[in-house]
Amino acid sequence: MSLSRVIELAEAVAQGKTSRDELAKCMSDFVEEKLCIDEHLCWSAEGYTRKQVYCSENVEVVITCFQGNQESPPHDHGGSWGVVVPYQGSISNKFFERIEGNKVRPTGMTVQKPGEVLILEKEDIHQVTANTCADHGNRHASIHCYFPPIPTMNQFVVEEEALRKK
Ligand SMILES: [Fe+2]
Repeated sequence: MSLSRVIELAEAVAQGKTSRDELAKCMSDFVEEKLCIDEHLCWSAEGYTRKQVYCSENVEVVITCFQGNQESPPHDHGGSWGVVVPYQGSISNKFFERIEGNKVRPTGMTVQKPGEVLILEKEDIHQVTANTCADHGNRHASIHCYFPPIPTMNQFVVEEEALRKK
């Protein structure tokens, strides 16, 4: 098991030669085996970081690093779908539905622990918050595969009126 095995399987998924589940299991095993990705890890007090470790016309593999309590804005993935597995620390994913324009309202939330798989469908809008991570110096990291490489991430605004009505 290695990061190159994850990349190989991701390419196989893109070409319809293996299943999403196979890739998800491989990513989860990668985390279980605590394989070293130190060379790709980089945290910043300014906000979360995103490092692309592989990209072809079919797929990109990305590693994100958050410090505890850092968060992304609500965003989509420009029509790409993906598989996300936390490597260390847990993350909260808030999901949203689109109301109009760039306005969204929340629909639910999941918490992901290391090794747990989240599939993001191409229409999904979410917001990631890194939970406090006492055992890793409050540092979180996740491994992502996106199909095809994300062309652009659109950002959204949470509709306050919709929040009040809930
Ligand atoms: Fe995302």
